Amino acid sequence: MPSPKSTARAALLAFLLCGVAAPALAQTAQSPVPAILTTPEARDIHSYAQPLVARVTHIDLDLTADFAGQKMTGTAALDIAAAPDAKEVVLDSKGLVIHAVTDDKGAALPWTLGKADPILGAPLTVQLNGARRIVVRYDSASDGAALQWLTPAQTAGKTKPYLFSQGEAILNRTWIPTQDSPGIRQTWTARIVAPEGLKAVMSAEMLTPNGEPVAGGGRAYRFRMDKPVASYLIAIAVGDIAFQPLGQRTGVYTEPSVMKKTANELVDVEKMVEAAESLYGPYAWGRYDLLVLPPSFPFGGMENPRLTFATPTIIAGDRSLVSLVAHELAHSWSGNLVNNATWSDFWLNEGFTVYFENRIMEKLYGKPRADMLADLGWSDLQATIKAAGGPTGADTRLHLDLAGRDPDDGMTDIAYEKGATFLRTIEKAVGRPRWDAYLKDYFARHAFQSQTTAGFVADLRENLIKGDPKLEAEIGIDKWVYGAGLPDNAVHVRSAAFPAVDALAAAYGKGGPAPLAKWKAWSTPERTRFVASLPRALSKERLATLDKAFGLSVQGNSEIRFVWLELAVANRYDPALPSLEAFLTDQGRRKFVAPLFKDLMAQGDWGQSIAKRIYAKTRPLYHAVTRQTVDGIVK
Ligand code: BES
Ligand code: ZN
Repeated sequence: MPSPKSTARAALLAFLLCGVAAPALAQTAQSPVPAILTTPEARDIHSYAQPLVARVTHIDLDLTADFAGQKMTGTAALDIAAAPDAKEVVLDSKGLVIHAVTDDKGAALPWTLGKADPILGAPLTVQLNGARRIVVRYDSASDGAALQWLTPAQTAGKTKPYLFSQGEAILNRTWIPTQDSPGIRQTWTARIVAPEGLKAVMSAEMLTPNGEPVAGGGRAYRFRMDKPVASYLIAIAVGDIAFQPLGQRTGVYTEPSVMKKTANELVDVEKMVEAAESLYGPYAWGRYDLLVLPPSFPFGGMENPRLTFATPTIIAGDRSLVSLVAHELAHSWSGNLVNNATWSDFWLNEGFTVYFENRIMEKLYGKPRADMLADLGWSDLQATIKAAGGPTGADTRLHLDLAGRDPDDGMTDIAYEKGATFLRTIEKAVGRPRWDAYLKDYFARHAFQSQTTAGFVADLRENLIKGDPKLEAEIGIDKWVYGAGLPDNAVHVRSAAFPAVDALAAAYGKGGPAPLAKWKAWSTPERTRFVASLPRALSKERLATLDKAFGLSVQGNSEIRFVWLELAVANRYDPALPSLEAFLTDQGRRKFVAPLFKDLMAQGDWGQSIAKRIYAKTRPLYHAVTRQTVDGIVK
């Protein structure tokens, strides 16, 4: 029998010679290379890492949050699994200031920062000199894209500063020197020193809820994630953060002044976890908590393990926007347990999650409500296909070609809604019981592993289709996954309530009354549908009547306010401008902010001067993710 050492060497040689790894490739007996990484489809064009040569398996962060300097400063110690003769490890970095790299005994290791690419950043190559643990002393990038340092004025409490991070897709390389590739999983720990009076939370087990005093001031908070996760799931927030339990293993973190209304909105979270478990198996991460952030958080939500990050714009006061929690919770299976190996496989994260989210909603709140949400998603999908160049547009494919592009370019509703529609189409073909059994089993079989589109397709054929030619033809897997547009067999979930809503919207467009009694009885999805399906051209009088009847300009519900403002901008309706300006100032969620600026820019001088004036004021308030997108719109 060959020794593990010679096997590894032979495998590495095979990899270097033919560019494809041999299946038996093993870096070390304890940390074999995950099989998926040895497939050609798993090569990540958005990372400099060479995981088949040397791979990060564990990270220990020891960092101080320096609010005055607006940087994280300290060390990242990385455990490396490498082929016995591997000379170097390649890490990702973007704007990091590297002070030194040593081995675990303190001996300096030679390192170089390569040429910086505007999207990817620069490779940080460290000579291992036989080391299998390296320590990088560094500062986070100044003005890096992951971290946003908020002034007290940008928080709810207005008295203390706040810091939060957003890692997905390739932003964490601006504050952590590691292999920032979703196919590479690692366990991690962190010790974070925060100023006195501020609390640090992270997407991991919180070992010191109240922190420990540090000589020289501040408090140290310690964290541990003992399950291997992709680097984009490491997340932090530091601020005036309180905690309130919601259930046995669920709770919410947010600023003290908004805790009451926030916790009240989230009363169903524990039930959601139970519903999710009843569908697709046990929750694998221990606790499930949420952190509701200040309003500049650029996304609706982010599925950071054990600690979903969420925008405060879901706090509508009537619990009507909690499907977002179902979505982020669902990622605990589809995304965190089994995640996209590359950003071209993003639909494996989001399409599965939109599908799963809707199943949770159906289970907890019934089919009519779930159907409304799915039907709204269908409309979004139609609009997205149109915007992507119609049914032949290259970016309407589930598996994306992102060569030379920012992964962010691929993060459209194609992944979300076409992905979910594909899974509904499979469900219909095989029947719900068989599909559910397959999916539950799929999550269990691939738990804590990354997955490619090809890997999922192979699994589907092996464990669900099982060579049934009729089923294979009925679904048309390859067309769905690698083809453009929406295949003919796409399942369109229709809400039974929407035709009546649409009819009233059409009637209003033709001079009919504002249906006030209906509006009062309608749920948020019905109200959203009504406003979104009104004719795009309405007179000032018609808009004024609506606004007055339904209080649209003063809507606290962010989804309704958003569709109203889109309608108002489309009609150059000046009376809604104060409401628009307030909405663009008071929150920075990209899904709302970017389309509104785009709508304005499409309205000639009228809209462009408004967009420029407002953006000059709001740009400094937005997170880099939102800023980057809006910079491309308002020029
Ligand atoms: N993982 C995403 C957020 C994300 C996507 C971050 C791409 C970075 C790059 C998250 O789960 C998500 O999809 N959020 C949605 C909400 C959801 C209900 C569709 C959002 O932020 O709008
Ligand atoms: Zn998602």
